[in-house]
Amino acid sequence: MRVLTIIPTFNELESLPKTLGRVRAAVPATDVLVVDDNSPDGTGQLADRMAAEDSQVKVLHRKGKEGLGAAYIAGFKWGLDEGYDVLVELDADGSHQPEQLPRLLQAIEDGADLAIGSRWVPGGTVVNWPAHRQFISKGGSFYARTMLGLPVKDLTGGFNAFRASTLHTIDLNQVESKGYGFQVDLKWRTAKAGLVVKEVPITFVEREFGTSKMSGNIVVEAMVNVTKWGLGARLAKLTGKGGR
Ligand code: GDD
Ligand code: MN
Repeated sequence: MRVLTIIPTFNELESLPKTLGRVRAAVPATDVLVVDDNSPDGTGQLADRMAAEDSQVKVLHRKGKEGLGAAYIAGFKWGLDEGYDVLVELDADGSHQPEQLPRLLQAIEDGADLAIGSRWVPGGTVVNWPAHRQFISKGGSFYARTMLGLPVKDLTGGFNAFRASTLHTIDLNQVESKGYGFQVDLKWRTAKAGLVVKEVPITFVEREFGTSKMSGNIVVEAMVNVTKWGLGARLAKLTGKGGR
């Protein structure tokens, strides 16, 4: 299996070298793609220097901050073009433990089309997260799970491994979410396509350096989209039944 670990960055100068080093140590076989949105702090140039020293590190430079979803879609397209078999999402800030990546890859080897690193299944945890973030995350997952009728506990998480065939099946050009709702979007599309989704427990540790890019707008976009998809699916079911 050729694995590409994609790390999106916006102002992650202090965190990126540590995270990248941990990924390379934990899974020496994986290539890493840093997708930088022209970070004002110079994260993109730092990534270039690391790529110059390590042929398994690549960098995709984007013009400016266009959101997590857009960054990942660009990274996925790059990885699919290069022929990778598995594409992994991992935050730069140390919240996702690279040492737990083998668990996700094992789930893929065991047949999952999507392996979700999950904070909200037995064995999964969150360390140092303020109560309001836990509430948004758990509440958001609960709302999305109920609205979309998906038996997935962690729908909003950002530590996931996709089989390339999964990303080919769900049309990336159709993904409309710009912010973190993108994570729900991909999981919803994967489940709707009837693919195998497995949740694997992970330990999420709040970042030590830098700041979160999470915002109220991001939450609102996710809520609006989830509501739209959920109602759309219900309506389709109703009209589908009526027509038969
Ligand atoms: N290229 C790029 N462009 N990277 C971005 C952007 C962007 O617009 N916005 C965020 N990132 C990068 C950050 O630099 C970091 O590496 C990663 O995406 C996650 O951003 P954080 O700002 O640290 O996210 P968080 O800790 O608040 O949110 C975490 O939890 C969310 C909810 O569960 C992440 O794991 C999210 O992926 C997750 O959806
Ligand atoms: Mn973070």
